[in-house]
Amino acid sequence: MFCWTTVLIIRTLLNVVVSAEQDVPDSEVFCVFMDSCILPCSFQSSRDDDVIHWFQGTGRQIHVHSFYNNQDQLGLQDQNFRNRTSLFQDQISRGNCSLLLRGVKVQDEGRYEWYTNTIYGSRNSFVHLRVDAPVSEVHMSQEENRITCSSEGIY
Ligand SMILES: *[C@@H]1O[C@H](CO)[C@@H](O)[C@H](O)[C@H]1NC(C)=O
Ligand SMILES: *[C@@H]1O[C@H](CO)[C@@H](O)[C@H](O)[C@H]1NC(C)=O
Repeated sequence: MFCWTTVLIIRTLLNVVVSAEQDVPDSEVFCVFMDSCILPCSFQSSRDDDVIHWFQGTGRQIHVHSFYNNQDQLGLQDQNFRNRTSLFQDQISRGNCSLLLRGVKVQDEGRYEWYTNTIYGSRNSFVHLRVDAPVSEVHMSQEENRITCSSEGIY
């Protein structure tokens, strides 16, 4: 009886620890459709031999942007991101691993993961990208007692 209770308590404690880890919310960025957007990332740079990877989704299979040997490495970059990404290279040594994404599309919405590896070890985190479209123009027309509003380009 004592043992069983202990096991239950330990399991409960473990669950709390595990769920606390899983409940760290993704940081969220709202990006405007067709505009440029910064996905935030910061790490402890070793000033040399920093490795930075950005992935779309959670499986580390869709490569968005990579940097190592002190330069961009885009050989594995997914077609969808071609020519639309960059890092702030002059700020990497100051610990800025943020990604600049240009021409944001609706399909870009979702979860991204960054991963860094330096002499201090590796780190990773998730960013959730949401796409907003601004209302560019609202047309109003009045017909007797009815007012109609319409707009285009809202997502
Ligand atoms: C990449 O973008 C630059 C500047 O926007 C453009 O001049 C170039 O043609 C583009 N390259 C490709 C492969 O799309
Ligand atoms: C990284 O640098 C960019 C460009 O200067 C800046 O907008 C962004 O806030 C920086 N991010 C971090 C995490 O320092």
